[in-house]
Amino acid sequence: MSEFKKHLLLICHSRSGTNQRLAEAIADGATSDPEAIDFRMKSAFEADADDLLWADATIFVSPEHFGYMAGALKDFFERTFYPTENQVAGRSMCIVIGTGLDGQGALSSIRRICTGYRFKEVQPETIIVGEPSAADLQHCHDLGASMAAGLEAGLY
Ligand SMILES: Cc1cc2nc3c(=O)[nH]c(=O)nc-3n(C[C@H](O)[C@H](O)[C@H](O)COP(=O)(O)O)c2cc1C
Repeated sequence: MSEFKKHLLLICHSRSGTNQRLAEAIADGATSDPEAIDFRMKSAFEADADDLLWADATIFVSPEHFGYMAGALKDFFERTFYPTENQVAGRSMCIVIGTGLDGQGALSSIRRICTGYRFKEVQPETIIVGEPSAADLQHCHDLGASMAAGLEAGLY
């Protein structure tokens, strides 16, 4: 059965736990129907080119660091860009930022690099400032569920 399921990858970096909580809420939503898709969650340092080649869609979750994405996610992009070049064009992605004050620098830097991979951004960005509220975590849960449902329905 598994070979017929679409694959959803979540790549997260979190230094002090906020983005990890967002990622776990997304994962909960993405796996609410365990039969729908195959789901894989990895830290940015752990994820590699094989994960990206496996994924039909990827969710990037990162804090903003010094007005940019987390260095761990930049490292992931540096390690995977050439090994996956021209092999992931058109695949789907979306971006989630859990940040201190702003988040725009993290968002635009991830978006710019994803343009190089020729990913298709299929959900509006999520930027959560400060401590996530219950509504923020629910939003992340729903985002995960929506990505999984879109993959299962063949939209992504
Ligand atoms: C080294 C460092 C740099 C940061 N730079 C920014 C920044 O430029 N803009 C911002 O809004 N928040 C900044 N922050 C705050 C984090 O983005 C914020 O606390 C975030 O929620 C941390 O996520 P985490 O708990 O998943 O690590 C910075 C935090 C650290 C540790």
